[in-house]
Order: sequence, then C-alpha cells, then structure tokens
Amino acid sequence: MQHTLRAAITGVGGYVPEYRLTNKILETMVETNDEWIKSRTGIEERRILKGEGKGTSDLGAPAVLNLCEKRGIDPMEIDCLICCTVTPDMTFPATANIICDKIGAKNAFSFDLGAACSGFLYGVTMATTMIESGRYKKVVVVGADKMSSIIDYTDRTTCILFGDGAGAVLLEPNEEGLGIVDTVLKSDGSGAKYLHMKAGGSVKPATIETVQAREHYVYQEGQSVFKFAVVGMADAAYELITRNNVTGDDIAWLVPHQANKRIIDATANRMGIPSEKVMLNIHRYGNTTSGTIPLCLWEWESQLKKGDNLVLAAFGGGFTWGATLVKWAY
Ligand code: UT7
Repeated sequence: MQHTLRAAITGVGGYVPEYRLTNKILETMVETNDEWIKSRTGIEERRILKGEGKGTSDLGAPAVLNLCEKRGIDPMEIDCLICCTVTPDMTFPATANIICDKIGAKNAFSFDLGAACSGFLYGVTMATTMIESGRYKKVVVVGADKMSSIIDYTDRTTCILFGDGAGAVLLEPNEEGLGIVDTVLKSDGSGAKYLHMKAGGSVKPATIETVQAREHYVYQEGQSVFKFAVVGMADAAYELITRNNVTGDDIAWLVPHQANKRIIDATANRMGIPSEKVMLNIHRYGNTTSGTIPLCLWEWESQLKKGDNLVLAAFGGGFTWGATLVKWAY
C-alpha cells in the first residue's frame, strides 16, 4: 500500500545534569515543605546544571550526541537543528548554532525557537513540515532549558517548580504511514501578563534597578496559569484525537508536558486515558520547560512499539499550547 510521505521520529536522546535539588534542600532555602510541594505539584527533586560558564548548550549538546550515538549517525549528516529554549546561552547568536559547533554538525543550518513549555511541540511541527516538503532528510529538534538561570531561589512560589535538562529527537522521512500524524497548536499573547520575565528584553533592558528589583527571573501568577493550563492542554488533546477519530482506548501513551501532576491528571481524565498509560517523570526532574516531553520519550523509548499511538501535549508561557498525534515508527 502506498502511503503519503510523513515525518517520523527515528531516534531519541537526552541529558540531565548530575546535581539533585531535593525538596529537603529547598526546605533550607525558602519557607516550604516536602509535603506541600509533592501534593500541589508531584515534584520530589529536580536536576541543576552546576559550573561556571555552563549554559543551555551544555545540556543540548550531550542530548544530541546521545541521540546520534544511539541512532548510529554522524552529526555531519544532520541537515537542520532546531533548539527550542527560553534560556538561550546568550540573546544572540542562537544556542542551536553553538550546539552544532560543539557537536561538529558542520553541514546543518540551525536556529532557536521560543514557545516556552510548548517549544518542543512547535519545533517538531516545524521539522515535520520541512521533512514533508521533501527538501530535508534529517532534522533534529532539541528541547533544552537551564531554568535555574532564570529562577529566583528566594521566591518559593516558582523555585520549587523548575529544573534543568534537555531531550532531542531526530525526524526523518517515512513512507510506511508512520510518524507525525497531526498537530493542534495554539497561542494567545494576552496570557503574557500571567507568565513572563519582566526585564532584560527590548521593552526594559537590564539596568542596576532591574537587577535590584529581581526582574530577571520567571514571574508567574500560578493559579491563573493553572486554570488556563488545565483547560488548554486537555482541550487541544481532545480536539486532536476527535478530529482523527481516535479514542482514549486507541492511545498507547499520553506524553504530557510536566508542569504539575494535577494538570496532567486532568488531561488524562478528559481523554479517558488511565494513569498507567501516562508518562510521568515530574517527580524526578520538575518542569524543564522545553525538555519535558523529549525527556519522557527518552526514558520510555524501550517500552514503545512500532505503530503505537502517542499523544504529546503541552501548555506554557505565551500562552502557547497544543497536542501532537504520533504513530511511533520503530
Ligand atoms: O509550565 C509552565 C506553565 N506553568 C504551569 O503550568 C504552572 C501552573 N500553576 C501551578 O502549577 C500551581 O498554581 C502552583 C504549583 C504554582 C501553585 O499551586 P496552587 O495550588 O495554585 O497554590 P496557590 O498559589 O493557590 O497557593 C496556596 C497557598 C498560598 O498560601 P495562602 O495564601 O493560602 O496562605 C501560598 O502562599 O500555598 C502557599 N505557597 C506555598 N506554601 C509552601 C505557595 N508556594 C508555596 C510553597 N511552599 N513553595
């Protein structure tokens, strides 16, 4: 049977730094406790990239190298690398360029994509259209964030949530009917007021005052974001499966962005997916922003079977949100 050309994920890589910031350690830094963090978010510990001069490319580069080694390809074979991040090494040049330089991907063109916690889904969608155009054969999407670089560790409402990490996938053409089937992506800039960084952009460049006012950190109105996230992530996933005539029973795995276990549970319930089919590693990594979904794929890769239906779903700053239906290709 002849199938149309699809883009399929053909390899996964990941990297998390060694250092574990546990809830117990956070108890010594801010007024919080293990029980509150676990019951409100599901998080027990997160990884932090330590070391002078280390940035997001030091998470992304090992993740892509891990992917290349496992898939048995040379970085020189990569046509394009997209780095999804909100914590670039520098405002410019793109962290994607720096990753390519570090891993020796000299034939790739590369760029960064910023869609916060939905960055990986946006990146996979861009890569999919590039592959489907027939022009590119190997596109890498790496979701990487050193969230610890923009977190205020005196603010208990945000510092307990985030961690550092990176995950990467390779997309290649597939003619067996496997791969990325469909995507629902949304954004709404009116949500910016609930989740943003106050200074350091062109509206409010860095000054001594902005630093003193602690405006270079994540600002979040948690409850408002929570309400939008619960509805947005579940709605996008539901719209996706409904228009593809798929039900919860047909789905092997839900791969949700890991921001809060309660948001994940709400999405799974709405889709009729039992908890044993939901990838969950928030307890070990917290919210790694662009890294959460590919890090799940990295950890669950050995359990995935060719032909499995996966729904990837995310909600994040912007607001941005969406869901992607994948027929696993290997
Ligand atoms: O990935 C990007 C998108 N982001 C999200 O999806 C995050 C969405 N939001 C959330 O996940 C939740 O809103 C949070 C986990 C951030 C907060 O949970 P919540 O259940 O919404 O708590 P809350 O903000 O309503 O705070 C409840 C209470 C407050 O005390 P009072 O006013 O009731 O006395 C807070 O001051 O908990 C207090 N609180 C804390 N207590 C202990 C806030 N942070 C902490 C803390 N430890 N770390």
